[in-house]
Amino acid sequence: MSATPETAPVSPGTGGGPLLEVDGLRVGFATEDGRVQAVDGVDFQLEPGEVLAIVGESGSGKSVTAQTLIGLTRSPNSHIEGSVKLNGEELTTLSEAQLQKVRGRQIAMIFQDPMTSMNPVYTVGRQIIEAIRAHDSKVGKRDAHRQAIELLEAVGIPDADRRVDAYPHEFSGGMRQRAMIAMGLALEPSILIADEPTTALDVTIQAQILDLIQDLNRSRGLATILITHDLGVVAEVADRVLVMYGGKVVERGTLTDIFYDPQHPYTWGLLGSLTRLDQPRPHRLPQISGAPPSLLNLPSGCAFRPRCPHEFGKCKEVPGLEARLPEDPNHRDRCWLTAEQKRRLREVEGRIGLEEPRG
Ligand SMILES: Nc1ncnc2c1ncn2[C@@H]1O[C@H](COP(=O)(O)OP(=O)(O)O)[C@@H](O)[C@H]1O
Ligand code: SF4
Ligand SMILES: [Mg+2]
Repeated sequence: MSATPETAPVSPGTGGGPLLEVDGLRVGFATEDGRVQAVDGVDFQLEPGEVLAIVGESGSGKSVTAQTLIGLTRSPNSHIEGSVKLNGEELTTLSEAQLQKVRGRQIAMIFQDPMTSMNPVYTVGRQIIEAIRAHDSKVGKRDAHRQAIELLEAVGIPDADRRVDAYPHEFSGGMRQRAMIAMGLALEPSILIADEPTTALDVTIQAQILDLIQDLNRSRGLATILITHDLGVVAEVADRVLVMYGGKVVERGTLTDIFYDPQHPYTWGLLGSLTRLDQPRPHRLPQISGAPPSLLNLPSGCAFRPRCPHEFGKCKEVPGLEARLPEDPNHRDRCWLTAEQKRRLREVEGRIGLEEPRG
């Protein structure tokens, strides 16, 4: 997938670099109970027109990662390290006023529950119009109104010229999420961050929203970061995948790498717990046992150790995120097992999964 010229970055980049480059991102929070290291060394790049999925259980640091990209985790009790570059420009050191210009115009973010980010007392159209005019006061009201209708049409809202004057509560959940995406697109951003955009929706509507995201990605070259706890969602739309656990990326690769040659036992667990209609779940494949770790008190060594049936002596040391398959330097994981052990151990009754813990 490639970007169309219309969606070319607003500010010229340093030339040839990635659209977004995240390096050594760490986000800690001081809490009453101690320091929570919510994000602990996340690196990735995003290219124009690409869908990058960030997947992991609740509390793994997905939302904090996404919010930090656009400065939403800045606060007196947070401590942010690392670098976030958009077209070569460092965002972590921008002032709040400078960041305001990046938000919406270059990077738009949509959330799980559109009700929390829409104002219930204004019509959907008015909110889109205000977003357009707040960034470009030269756009007249009538033009902005027409643009709002076009945006609602672009996200598949029927009778857009009538619905533009409806209030958020008059929309169904799926339609609200579409309207939210329309708002996100109002300023023609080059990046859309969608944080669990379909989690609150039923399965049919979920599929429609994912189709919409994929359409926009293809037709507008919109680079997308899609955050989800559900690998099923990832399978629908992602080009590349980051799997997060305990604030760290434990595996990253292409969609094919993650689904057909997963290297980390946690990824096997996520795959094994996916519902598959074509096969019964093998009886040795439960959901991943145990709970995600408390970030206040992470286990030493590999953070997945307490839940991993394949743990061995070496796991007391922290594994780095490394390319462990000589033929594929871009597929990386944080597990000490050899590639050969991994291929053998992940096979459970003919499919990939994480076996029940021993003992
Ligand atoms: N403002 C904050 N202060 C303290 N802890 C926070 C704050 N925001 C998030 N956290 C903690 O950071 C961890 C990661 O959160 P989050 O990124 O929201 O997880 P995910 O999106 O993967 O479910 C959680 O343990 C959460 O409680
Ligand atoms: S490093 Fe050890 S504990 Fe961690 S996932 Fe690999 S085998 Fe399991
Ligand atoms: Mg979240």
